[in-house]
Amino acid sequence: LGIDIGTTSVKALVVNEKGEVLERFSYNLKTLIPKPTWSEQNPEDWWRGTLEILEAASKKGYSIDYIGFSGQMHSLVVLDERDKVIRPAILWSDQRTSEECKEATELLGGEEKVISEIGNPILEGFTLSKILWIRKHEPRNYEKIKTVLLPKDYVLFKLTGEKGIDWSDASGTACYDVFKRKWAENILKSLEIDSSILPPIYSSTSIRGILNEKIASSLGWEGTKIVSGGADNAVAAFGVGVCSPGDCMVSIGTSGTVLGVTSSVKPDYEGKIHLFNHVLDGISYYMGVMLSAANSLDWLKNKIAPNTSWEEIETMIKHAPAGSHGMIFLPYLNGERTPHRDPDARGVLFGISSMDGTEDIFRAVFEGVSFGLRDSFELIKEETKISRLRVVGGGAASATLCEIIATNFKMPVEILEMDEGGAYGAAMLAAVGSGMSVDEVQKWVKVKRIIEPKKDEIDFYDQWYEHYKKLYFDLKNRFKEVASAMRL
Ligand code: XUL
Repeated sequence: LGIDIGTTSVKALVVNEKGEVLERFSYNLKTLIPKPTWSEQNPEDWWRGTLEILEAASKKGYSIDYIGFSGQMHSLVVLDERDKVIRPAILWSDQRTSEECKEATELLGGEEKVISEIGNPILEGFTLSKILWIRKHEPRNYEKIKTVLLPKDYVLFKLTGEKGIDWSDASGTACYDVFKRKWAENILKSLEIDSSILPPIYSSTSIRGILNEKIASSLGWEGTKIVSGGADNAVAAFGVGVCSPGDCMVSIGTSGTVLGVTSSVKPDYEGKIHLFNHVLDGISYYMGVMLSAANSLDWLKNKIAPNTSWEEIETMIKHAPAGSHGMIFLPYLNGERTPHRDPDARGVLFGISSMDGTEDIFRAVFEGVSFGLRDSFELIKEETKISRLRVVGGGAASATLCEIIATNFKMPVEILEMDEGGAYGAAMLAAVGSGMSVDEVQKWVKVKRIIEPKKDEIDFYDQWYEHYKKLYFDLKNRFKEVASAMRL
C-alpha cells in the first residue's frame, strides 16, 4: 500500500508486486484559514483518513504486507510529553513567518552563511520558521513541545509507536544539513532550540516499524511492515523514474514544482531554488516551487467558465495564438516562492484589449503558468545539466500545456502511463523496503507519450518570456505598497 498524506486529501493505492494498481482510496481533508495567508490542518484528520483507508482496504479483502509513505513537506506537527498534538499543524503553504525568517537569518550571520551550513535559506514555508513563530507568539504552547514531526511521520508514529523522519523530509525543515545528512546542531544551538525535540533520521526505504498489533488484528492483518517513505516531491519523482542525475520532473498540481536530480552538493547561494536530499542515497535534487500552478487554471475556470469542460478549454487554447494577442498572466495568486520569494505578489492579467476572447484569456493563463515553471527550470539548469523531462500531475492531462512547456524548455516532454503522484512512489518505496531492488521496481515506470517542442514558436516564446519576467519587476514595489495598504 502506498499512502500520500497530501494537503487536499489522503490518497492510497493498493499495488501488487508487478506494479499494477489494484485499488484506489482517498479521504478529503479540510484546511483551516484562521487569517489571510495562514493555513492549518488538524493532524487527527490525517490519522482518521489513514485509518478509514486501511479499514476500507481490509473490508475489500486485501491483506497488506508493506505500507510506504509520501507526505506534504515542511508542515509542523508539535507533540507534548504525552505525545498529544499541542495545536493544529502549521502548513507548508502558510506565510505567517516572514519576521521569524528575517530575525533567525540575521542572528545566524546572513543568508549566505545559512545556505553554506544547511544548503537552503530559512523560508516562510519551512518548518524551522514555524517553530520560531510558536516560540514568539504562543510561548505556552512552545514550552509544551517535546517532539516535532512532519505530517507523514505523525501518521507513521500513530501506526508503529516509532518517532522518526527520513532524509528527504528532514531536508525541508531548515533544521537539517543536506550535505552531511544530519540535524544542523550549530544552527539549532545558536537559535536556542533543544535538538532533542527532533526525531531520529532514517533512509526512505528502511522499515520504520511493524503495524501496531491492535490495529493489525482489527484489520485481520499480521506483521504488516511500515516503510519510512519521504517528502511528496521526492517520492513522486521516484514514482515516475526521476531518480538519476539529469532527470527532471515538472509536477503541475495545485502548486507547481520543477525538480532536477543531481549528484552535486553545491547549493544555490541566492537561495532561489532548494537543494534537498532525494529518497535514494547519494543523490539530491534542486527544486523550484511556484505556489499557484493548476490553482491558477482552476481559479480561472471556476470564475469565468464553470460550465465549460477541460476538453473544450483545451480546444480553445489550441486554436488561440501564441502570445494570447498581447496578454500576459502573472500566476502569483497567493504570492510566489520561486524565483521571487514574494508573499505580497498577486495575480495579474496584463494587456487586455476589447478584441480578446475567453480563449485568449485561457491561453494567457496557460502561458503564464508555463513561464512560472520555466523560471525554476532556468535556475536549475544553471546548477546542473538536465537531459530528460517528465511532466506529471493534473496539468499533464493538457497536451497543449505540455507542448507550451516543451517549447519553452526546448526539450521533449515525456508523459507516463502511471501518473498517480506520491502514493504510487510510496508503494514503490514499500516494494524496495520489502527487498526488491530499485532497478526492478523502476521497471514499473512506462512512458505513454512524448510531446515535442513546437520549433517555429521557440524564438517567439524566448522573447515573450522576457516580457513576462520584466512585468513582475515593473510591479514589484506596487505589490508591496498595496499589500501594506491592505494590512492597515
Ligand atoms: C515543496 C512544497 C510543496 C509541498 C506540497 O517545497 O512546499 O510542494 O511539498 O505538499
